[in-house]
Amino acid sequence: MARPVVLLLCCSLLLVASSSKWKAAARTVPVEYLYPPYNLTYFHFIDTNGVFLRSPNATFAAAVYTPASDTSGDTQTLFFFSVIHDASRTPVWTATDGATIVQSIVLSLTASGLALSDPADLSAPPAWSTPANLAAPVAAMRLLDTGQLTLLDAANATLWSSFDAPTDTLLPGQTLPVGVPLTGTVSDQDLSRGAYRLILTTTDALLQWRTMTSQLLF
Ligand SMILES: *[C@@H]1O[C@H](CO)[C@@H](O)[C@H](O)[C@H]1NC(C)=O
Ligand SMILES: *[C@@H]1O[C@H](CO)[C@@H](O)[C@H](O)[C@H]1NC(C)=O
Ligand SMILES: *[C@@H]1O[C@H](CO)[C@@H](O)[C@H](O)[C@H]1NC(C)=O
Repeated sequence: MARPVVLLLCCSLLLVASSSKWKAAARTVPVEYLYPPYNLTYFHFIDTNGVFLRSPNATFAAAVYTPASDTSGDTQTLFFFSVIHDASRTPVWTATDGATIVQSIVLSLTASGLALSDPADLSAPPAWSTPANLAAPVAAMRLLDTGQLTLLDAANATLWSSFDAPTDTLLPGQTLPVGVPLTGTVSDQDLSRGAYRLILTTTDALLQWRTMTSQLLF
């Protein structure tokens, strides 16, 4: 009668050992660098709320996540790829071209850059991507303590930077290039580009609501 009990104990020990190993692996978030080829969805980093890369001192993180705090029973959950200020969970940069992907997204890092796709239709063109004509193949993605996300070539030269494509936030050390708009989000849950834009010309700062423009008084 003793043998089955021993066997059962062994099995459960094995189960505990393998599940804690799996959890440890899922929770290890890379720091500063990520290398292509790499695909991920929110579900790969569900333990960390979608955070899959941290800056060296963990002030900023890159995440594929849903900004809505309560997603229970919400079938229209919106997912975004953002750089967030980790302590406040505030997005400081978001990959969005106006196309919002409902449900989930697949983020892929390849030698040609970053792209976001709809998992239901991976053959369709990506909903967002870095420019197709990067100067060299991507060797690494890097997240700095300034909140800047960059793509680097094999010689560590910057091929693309989130600071050159701001969304609604300027961080310390980041400048707004002339002609590049800062655009508000639709809401705190929907980080798609909203109706308000701030744009610098060589002489002015313009605040636009859709196509209407008014000059800012500075
Ligand atoms: C990433 O996903 C794409 C589309 O499904 C697939 O073609 C590619 O092989 C995947 N790459 C990796 C490294 O899993
Ligand atoms: C992280 O690094 C940034 C940039 O060097 C610095 O401003 C910030 O104070 C650092 N934060 C922590 C928590 O060390
Ligand atoms: C690029 O930067 C990484 C990390 O700092 C370093 O290990 C590597 O040697 C650098 N590569 C070149 C070609 O400078």
